Amino acid sequence: MNLAGKKIVLGVTGGIAAYKSAEIVSRLRHLGAEVHVIMTENAAKFVAPLTFQTLSANPVVTDTFATPETWNVEHVALAKLADIFVIAPATANILAKMACGIADDMLSTTVLATKAPVLAAPAMNTGMWTAPATAQNVETLRNRGVHIIGPGSGMLACGDEGAGRMSEPEEIVAEIERILAAKADLQGLKVLVTAGATRERLDPVRFLTNDSSGKMGFALAEAARDRGAEVTLVKGSTTAKVPSGVRIVEAESAADLLRAMKKEAGRQDIVIQAAAVADYRPATFSKTKIKKKAGEALTVTLEENPDIAKAVGAMKKKGQILAGFAAETDHVVKHAKEKLAAKNLDLIVANDVTRPGAGFNTDTNIVTLITADRTEELPIMTKRAAAEIILDRILEIRKG
Ligand code: CTP
Repeated sequence: MNLAGKKIVLGVTGGIAAYKSAEIVSRLRHLGAEVHVIMTENAAKFVAPLTFQTLSANPVVTDTFATPETWNVEHVALAKLADIFVIAPATANILAKMACGIADDMLSTTVLATKAPVLAAPAMNTGMWTAPATAQNVETLRNRGVHIIGPGSGMLACGDEGAGRMSEPEEIVAEIERILAAKADLQGLKVLVTAGATRERLDPVRFLTNDSSGKMGFALAEAARDRGAEVTLVKGSTTAKVPSGVRIVEAESAADLLRAMKKEAGRQDIVIQAAAVADYRPATFSKTKIKKKAGEALTVTLEENPDIAKAVGAMKKKGQILAGFAAETDHVVKHAKEKLAAKNLDLIVANDVTRPGAGFNTDTNIVTLITADRTEELPIMTKRAAAEIILDRILEIRKG
């Protein structure tokens, strides 16, 4: 990949692997990138700043000479300039500071201020890497969307054998290229996705629900996140792994979902409703567990739930794009088109849930994308691949 015009800020922290970061700078420069290096005071003890200055052809910012006044200017400048912010090697200390938002030196201050994607390449002793505190900090960072590469396993500088070796410069550069190549066509847009099944309670221990795993909605939320959107995921009951780096709003029942959507939908640019909402709920909720009456049948009366997509369609903002799903077993396109109109949607994703490889609980889907003037049948594909195409079409509709 040609990285010409890409501005990369590389933070180097104090670990023996710091010398390997010199190769990262050379490789990035070779690919045409503009590289700016920030070194912590400890990093400067391992490798002379002059090495990085020579390789990057830019001044190296070190804490050794910095004063808090210059930080104020520099941290904003480099934080804003970065297309990607890389920390390699990343010590347990910088990971902990990032997880807590501590800004007590040039590097931690700058990384806290940046809006660019952040990639950290941890390198440390195995004991430090496997310590619960580090594990928790890494989990926090991942959940915030920080990319973590490695560490690999092998013989460590301290003589121990195990996980803690910084990934090779070549791998780190490949990861930088991958992150930079990701489409950023949803940058600046707010996207809301609903996912999962609703639960309609009958008593404290029983409810009506359906088979939705949340996988399709999660794939959409992840794809939108990776394309730069600010994502809100309104989720009901799900069994799939919940995506990181998105804002989660929990909604158990259709009534909860309606409440959440009334609050959240108005501020969104794009709303995609993949939740499997129960159309009916028990008419009464028993506060105590319903007891068995031997020999007697139990009749449960169901009453209609609100149609949330319809409600969101009624309050649609100018320029907002609304998409929904249609789970069908027959006359798929006809039924989906009726829903498209009734719910004031711009796009409806129809699937025949009876086909193998489509619908609930699978990793693949077979969908037909329907707008007012176009019907596009897609072949079987992963839910993530389908999500990418759905987002492509939504953007086309937005552009008009
Ligand atoms: N939906 C909704 N509120 C409901 C039912 C459905 O918001 N009470 C939304 C779903 O999230 C989906 C779309 O409407 O985006 C279509 O859902 P689907 O279950 O296929 O259709 P229904 O409108 O419920 O019609 P039917 O069950 O009769 O097919």
